Amino acid sequence: MNYQDVLQQDTIDPLAGKRREFVLPDNMIYLDGNSLGAMPIAAYERSRQVTEQQWGLNLIKGWNADDWIDLPTMVGEKIAPLLGAAPGQVICCDSTSVNLFKVLCSAVEMQQGRSVVVSQKDNFPADLYIAEGLSQLGQGDFCELKVFEGSGIEDQLDDTVALLMLTHVNFRTGKLHDIRKLTKAAHDKGILVIWDLAHSTGVLPLSLDEWGVDFAVGCGYKYLNGGPGAPAFIYAAERHHASIRQPLSGWMGHRAPFAFDENYTAAPGVQQFLCGTPPVLSMSVLDASLSVFENVDMQVLRTKSVALGELFIQLIADNDSLGELTLISPKKSSERGSQVALAHPEAYSICQALIERNVIADFRTPDVLRFGFAPLYLSHQDIWKAVHILADVMASKIYSDEKFSRVQKVT
Ligand SMILES: Cc1ncc(COP(=O)(O)O)c(C=O)c1O
Repeated sequence: MNYQDVLQQDTIDPLAGKRREFVLPDNMIYLDGNSLGAMPIAAYERSRQVTEQQWGLNLIKGWNADDWIDLPTMVGEKIAPLLGAAPGQVICCDSTSVNLFKVLCSAVEMQQGRSVVVSQKDNFPADLYIAEGLSQLGQGDFCELKVFEGSGIEDQLDDTVALLMLTHVNFRTGKLHDIRKLTKAAHDKGILVIWDLAHSTGVLPLSLDEWGVDFAVGCGYKYLNGGPGAPAFIYAAERHHASIRQPLSGWMGHRAPFAFDENYTAAPGVQQFLCGTPPVLSMSVLDASLSVFENVDMQVLRTKSVALGELFIQLIADNDSLGELTLISPKKSSERGSQVALAHPEAYSICQALIERNVIADFRTPDVLRFGFAPLYLSHQDIWKAVHILADVMASKIYSDEKFSRVQKVT
């Protein structure tokens, strides 16, 4: 594809106007929306409104006057359509890790007589840490974590297994799981499934209700553009609500928090996953950020995400200076999320050299360069320019400058 074709793609892009809803620095090509989404203008405006007017002037009256107390439910209901979830099944709260803990405990408890949690070795490590921590609680008899390597997930499923815990999009390679197929395979053996949707929500069409998913967790700061450390969410299928018992039984998950009962009675629906006071500032910002999805068809979003990924892979393959970079993402876009990963022994330094040139990608140990494609604010032209800058970095070997090898705390 030549530059004219690329420009042409932008002129017919149905989402091209969305970029104007974001604050993006001039001349920056931001290919890291899979780590931290860009800031919607609506988010910036809400942060001012919440601090200046709500907190500043209304103070504690804001809990009722500004609906702060209802934010977890309101934001959950805004995320629900992005998950293909009917109302009453999604709640916004805590971090993905904490939510995973709550959901894991509940799901294991629901599976009387089974205690094995199966997951994949290349799952996001934090998810495995949470499951490992849980498996060590008490005498270590609450659950047993079994981590397998490679494919063949179905072979791991037998009648000792309580739970299958997987991440939809692999954080390094972007490889996708088939949620519908694996959920069905697990259900056929009486196994519940928890999906981590951190890299899918807001960028892939999801149909959790239709696919029969039991539980899911995901975060607010990647493709939902909720800002650094934005709160996360839980999806719990309605059919499970009556059986849930989650251990972080904080007052916000109580049926009547302000009755100050001596004993805990869980709220009836997905609200029982709440624990403590909601982070009003960050949840308000996430609430506002979600407005960018109004009138966005997730299939259209996916079509653009695929086009950006394919363009990137094609341009890399066509450029002789980029032969040293190895594509480790699936080549077929139907098997890939919205990111492309390239491996190189000097990946860290290459990433730093790119960042210096205002192309923002990220590095994942040991040798992976990740490029994320957020279709709401990226153009085909951005991809073209980014690949040409990458080619320049590789051809000039500028990345071998010692300054690019200094490893920072956050990579
Ligand atoms: C796939 C996945 N799961 C879980 C997490 C952990 O999320 P948190 O730090 O919000 O708990 C992340 C963080 O990036 C992630 O990418």
